Amino acid sequence: MNIQQRYPSVAYLEDKARNRVPPFVWDYLVGGGVRGSAVERNHAAFSHLTLTPKYILNSQIIPNISQQLLDTKFDAPFGVAPIGLNGLIWPNSSEFLSKAAKKANIPFILSLYATSRLEDIIEYGGIQNTWFQHYPQHSRDINLQIIKRARVAGYKTLVITIDVPTTRIPRNIRNGLSLPIQLRPKVFLDMLCKPRWTTKTLIAGPPTFENWLPHMPKSYKKRDMWKFLQTLPILPHQITREKLSWFRDNWTDNLIVKGVLHNSDAQMCKELGIDAMVISNHGGRQLDEAPSAIETLSSIRSEVGSGFPLLVDGGIRTGGEIALALAHGADFVLLGRAFMFALAALGGQGAAHAIAILQDELRSTMIQLGCPLLSELPETITNTKSSTS
Ligand SMILES: Cc1cc2nc3c(=O)[nH]c(=O)nc-3n(C[C@H](O)[C@H](O)[C@H](O)COP(=O)(O)O)c2cc1C
Repeated sequence: MNIQQRYPSVAYLEDKARNRVPPFVWDYLVGGGVRGSAVERNHAAFSHLTLTPKYILNSQIIPNISQQLLDTKFDAPFGVAPIGLNGLIWPNSSEFLSKAAKKANIPFILSLYATSRLEDIIEYGGIQNTWFQHYPQHSRDINLQIIKRARVAGYKTLVITIDVPTTRIPRNIRNGLSLPIQLRPKVFLDMLCKPRWTTKTLIAGPPTFENWLPHMPKSYKKRDMWKFLQTLPILPHQITREKLSWFRDNWTDNLIVKGVLHNSDAQMCKELGIDAMVISNHGGRQLDEAPSAIETLSSIRSEVGSGFPLLVDGGIRTGGEIALALAHGADFVLLGRAFMFALAALGGQGAAHAIAILQDELRSTMIQLGCPLLSELPETITNTKSSTS
């Protein structure tokens, strides 16, 4: 069987991935907040939404899934969400994903906390398809140094993530997740059980936050990265109107804010001249009590108006769910874990395979709906009155 037959959907990649990485890595990837209820809500929210198929058409349709976002026409309406510490999940993830994203002409977003240098990844992914995601730091100096590096490297789209003012993920605390990996007996045993992951990780070298290395004081060694990050102020990522406005003033190209759920945050971003927003609850990893992005989408859409570019993420694993998000007011969709499952399951070839699955599923959904254009998806939302009249 070839990979198309063995792994015909992201769910199969997820099953395979679970068996290939050590439990402490799996916990890191799939974990949510304290109880994980927002992760569950992200999935449940989709199962309550429906689109009604229409089968009797005037003529055959060929779905067109290309989508304009800001100044770029992408070949599909979805992209790869930023994932910190991604090299721990599978070595060289950013390299694989950025290359595959370029080939498929979709965006790949590199996290500030990725395990690859931002300068290298834009070389692989190219200017059009590679975006950089930054977490606002307490120190204006560090903010300036980092975004300057991104600009010099050639990035044209900067994503500022606002939804990690603090963080508390019990699974990671319990597993003592730190860099370099501490070879405690449990971690050592976990690694022994997953020889392929362990061998690949040893060959690639231990993952570290490469983008922070140039900003560490000289007195710190590479292996002291975790210690260095802990010296930064306790609430490094809190954002104020003034700080967001500073980013706007200092980044003249595309500026996207990620992690908006509240109408007032959306309104503020619009007022400040932010170019687009990602409606997101950070994959359910921040606040258990937070709504899923899809639940807040229509309210935010009404707040910002029809022309404002909105991206959505959280819990999306299929082309059908991409269609649901677009039908309900999103212009674009991001997926985080889906792509990491693909890499953990299949290594580098997983990246292109996951993209192909999502493209095929989206096209197939549009054919079922009798909908040739993404812009017509809102008309397919189930409306008891119109579908029965
Ligand atoms: C392991 C992990 C690490 C993440 N790291 C970041 C990050 O560094 N920056 C960021 O903006 N979002 C980060 N996110 C959130 C994702 O960008 C995205 O919002 C989320 O994964 C979407 O949900 P999904 O995984 O269900 O698709 C992370 C998510 C996961 C699962």
